[in-house]
Amino acid sequence: MKNAVLITGATSGLGLAYAKEYAKEGCNLIITGRREEKIKANAIDIEHTYHVEVKVVIVDLANQEGLIYLLDEIKDDEIEVLVNNAGFGLKSVFSETTREEMDRILFLQINAVVILTRYILEKMLVRNRGTVINISSDGAFAVMPRNVLYSSTKLFILNFTEGLYMELEKSDIKVQVVCPGFIDSDFHASAGMNIIKKKNGFMKFSPPEEIVRLAMNDMKKGKVVSAPVIDAKIVRLMVHLLPRKLFYKIAIDFTKKRNKKLHR
Ligand SMILES: NC(=O)c1ccc[n+]([C@@H]2O[C@H](COP(=O)([O-])OP(=O)(O)OC[C@H]3O[C@@H](n4cnc5c(N)ncnc54)[C@H](OP(=O)(O)O)[C@@H]3O)[C@@H](O)[C@H]2O)c1
Repeated sequence: MKNAVLITGATSGLGLAYAKEYAKEGCNLIITGRREEKIKANAIDIEHTYHVEVKVVIVDLANQEGLIYLLDEIKDDEIEVLVNNAGFGLKSVFSETTREEMDRILFLQINAVVILTRYILEKMLVRNRGTVINISSDGAFAVMPRNVLYSSTKLFILNFTEGLYMELEKSDIKVQVVCPGFIDSDFHASAGMNIIKKKNGFMKFSPPEEIVRLAMNDMKKGKVVSAPVIDAKIVRLMVHLLPRKLFYKIAIDFTKKRNKKLHR
């Protein structure tokens, strides 16, 4: 496939919003996910609406076999944009996390991002053209109790992308890391988190389309780190300014209150 945008995790939420945004611009898509029926329906809808080609790869990227399968599926494609988006959260505290959960989250949100980026970047460098967008989280700025592993993988993605930006500074390859706050998507339900989604105010759940629009605007302005909603910007600034002990106290209190409020 020529002029392709590869988006991991485009079954729902942010990945699907990115898929529609790039299709609107006339790009062909390669989209991945595990929920076959849902992602295939997305593909048909996008093809009909935007008249672009959409290739679907049904794959679990939280393990080595899945990733190798994807690399093989894309070996002949000319990928102009890579969006490393697939991700999931865990609801347990770290000490109760199973070995399988640990392996899966670390593989998907670290190994898969690194290996896929390295594989596609090599071809982008030959053409001296391309874009890599990595989806992190405001959790990368502020680790919270009950979110330790997830936040740590997102911090890795932030660090990895900023480093990549510096290494690629002299090339025409664009690099961006997106650190949203809460998104109204399937994310929390998939993690078994039974939550009430706030629609307004601080820490509200933003529509994925809004996050994509703001992140794309940031890209046009050349922003490497996009904290696309005001909440994420505030979190980033607060964490930077606060003495660490005060931050720990606020984070612990916030988590206690949120758990009481959000979990029915
Ligand atoms: N929701 C939030 O509040 C929030 C906040 C900050 C950052 N983010 C980040 O935004 C990104 C997108 O999340 P979202 O909010 O849009 O949630 P979502 O609707 O649950 O989308 C997650 C996507 O990742 C895919 N995925 C999950 N596990 C996978 C696996 N093992 N292998 C392959 N694909 C997998 C899912 O597809 P299948 O289920 O079909 O496999 C789905 O397409 C994630 O990286 C997340 O960490 C989310």
